[in-house]
Amino acid sequence: MNLELSPSVKYWLNFFHPLIMWLLFVLSIYAAYLGLQVQRTRNSQGEEKKELIKGRYNIRHYQIGSILLGLMVAGAIGGMAVTYINNGKLFVGPHLLAGLGMTSLIAFSAALSPYMQKGANWARMTHILLNFTLLGLFAWQAVTGVQIVQRILTNA
Ligand code: HEM
Ligand code: HEM
Repeated sequence: MNLELSPSVKYWLNFFHPLIMWLLFVLSIYAAYLGLQVQRTRNSQGEEKKELIKGRYNIRHYQIGSILLGLMVAGAIGGMAVTYINNGKLFVGPHLLAGLGMTSLIAFSAALSPYMQKGANWARMTHILLNFTLLGLFAWQAVTGVQIVQRILTNA
């Protein structure tokens, strides 16, 4: 397929995915904070519980989590699209594989939502395990991502 984009558009497209992904990294740390507050709320009692419930952490966590899900799927597809537009192929390397892995992890983790809301402990445990793995992979993905950006800048 011959995509008729001007060279400068093709070049600037390269920075869209990294910017969105850094924003998502910050957002996922915030989601983790909210998730841990959900857990704290559930395990607390009396006055403390009343105070924590006012924070509506479960609702806020679900909302931020949903935004994260949508942007991560779109962001990974976008990264592949820009790579293909610029190189006519994908590079099967750590960044591609970890990226596809993360996209699958977040899909499974979000799919556990109805079960967690019914109070299933297995779903909560799996959700936490999947997401802290996701955060670890994200840190790694940020490192390999910045290396790709550096390569693009030196080749420009
Ligand atoms: C955290 C910071 C990240 C940075 C700085 C970064 C940077 C990059 C860059 C520069 C590219 C080349 C394409 C382009 O220029 O747009 C790329 C490709 C890609 N990124 Fe990222 N990325 C990051 C995070 C992520 C995350 C979280 C995912 C998935 C959830 C992801 C998935 C991908 C995929 C699948 C590709 C295509 C790789 C290929 O075919 O070679 N990236 N990334
Ligand atoms: C970085 C990503 C995420 C982290 C670290 C994270 C972490 C957590 C934690 C620690 C809990 C508390 C479990 C408990 O009560 O013991 C939780 C609950 C929950 N999470 Fe996440 N989560 C993430 C992303 C998501 C996403 C993407 C969704 C869905 C779109 C989501 C939906 C939920 C729901 C529905 C609950 C149950 C809330 C309730 O009890 O009402 N989370 N999460």
